[in-house]
Amino acid sequence: MQESEQGMKGVTLRRNLTALDLTFLGIGAIIGTGIFVLTGKGALDAGPALILSFIIAGIACVLAAFSYAEFASMVPVSGSVYTYTYVTLGEFFAWIIGWDLMLEYMLAVSAVSSGWSGYFQSFLQGIGVELPKAFTAAYDATQGTFMNLPAFVIVMLITWLLSLGIRESKWVNNLLVFLKVAVVLLVILVGVFYVKPANWSPFMPFGWSGVFTAAALVFFAYLGFDAVSSAAEETRDPGKDLPRGILWSLGICTTCYVLVTLVVTGVMPFAHFKGHESAPVSYVMTFIGQDWVAGIIDIGAILGMTTVMLVMLYGQIRIGFSMSRDGLLFKRFSTVHPKYRTPYGATWLYGMICALLGAFVPLGQLVELVNLGTLTAFVVISIAVIVLRYTQPEMERKFRCPGVPYLPVLAVLFCGFLMSQLPMQTWIRFGIWLAIGIAFYFAYSYRNSKLNASRSKEKRG
Ligand code: ALA
Repeated sequence: MQESEQGMKGVTLRRNLTALDLTFLGIGAIIGTGIFVLTGKGALDAGPALILSFIIAGIACVLAAFSYAEFASMVPVSGSVYTYTYVTLGEFFAWIIGWDLMLEYMLAVSAVSSGWSGYFQSFLQGIGVELPKAFTAAYDATQGTFMNLPAFVIVMLITWLLSLGIRESKWVNNLLVFLKVAVVLLVILVGVFYVKPANWSPFMPFGWSGVFTAAALVFFAYLGFDAVSSAAEETRDPGKDLPRGILWSLGICTTCYVLVTLVVTGVMPFAHFKGHESAPVSYVMTFIGQDWVAGIIDIGAILGMTTVMLVMLYGQIRIGFSMSRDGLLFKRFSTVHPKYRTPYGATWLYGMICALLGAFVPLGQLVELVNLGTLTAFVVISIAVIVLRYTQPEMERKFRCPGVPYLPVLAVLFCGFLMSQLPMQTWIRFGIWLAIGIAFYFAYSYRNSKLNASRSKEKRG
């Protein structure tokens, strides 16, 4: 077993993940709220042409994934696109990207926890249990709600699991992913017998504009594959296993989405999704009288969203670990627990932030903010892959992105186009987050970074 040289105080992260584990980690992060929840809203925006929206968003991700894979095979250390940017574009851009990814991962965990809570509560109602109103949703004085208790509890449980180490959480993740994929296959296999091609026409009732609006939304469904690359330091052979993990998980998920979308829009006229946006896929099964399948889908969605939160939080912790190790975030965030060999304190800190956000802030509309942050990261990584080919052509690449520079340029165009479809309000919120990040960089990170330490040494020498 090869150990990382960069662990704190001689203590390093364990290396025990294979390509198959990474594929599971990827599927765990990818299939969740996007397909189980956003499909309803997406169908209302695009009609049966939602399948095109999924394909467009999927193409943007696959194109970006090739760049991710090349970088992952060159810079196999923990930290995902943050680390790759550090190596290629330097500290400032790396900070910006790391800050951007924190927004992506933390808000995604919080947003998914709210969705999870909704499904969980409907499951509880199914067995006759009703939570006190005050604890059912984020604070809203007019509705009499105080906090979303289930969302808080699930994030805390996941945090606990992750704090114990990757081995334990990997086992749980693999089991949940198996169940989740089985549920998706069930939707397809049962639904296919009820498809009426007439439901697919008119195919594009709201034209291309509806298709693109939905694409910018359901992009969220693909989010998560990049979390795979942040596990590099715990992977046995990162050069080979990371690219495989990323591409396999993305390929499997894209296939599932296309088939599920075809089935749900073929089984039921899309307008029937109105009012059923919170659990659209299980509603389709109720629509065709398959209540038992609907019940199973509810459980699958709960499990599916659990793994999404697990992997997203894992990604956040690892990125925070790398940023702290480079001196950009407070040093204590990269201290590794001597027994569990995890960044124990940081794990609890990030977990707590996500849990509180999910418990007290209604994050439904923030899916768009998460998408904008992620698309920005995709654009940067695609540009960086081209830059690196010219600046460091001799560096070993165990995986090479095909068609450079054309393919990464295409990725930038696709991602840039999806970004342009997001509302102004989202851009403003994103701008504010970046401004805070830049202020923090100059107030703290610039002076405390490892790079600055070597800059000072050079000056003195
Ligand atoms: N892709 C993840 C989901 O859909 C974020 O829940």
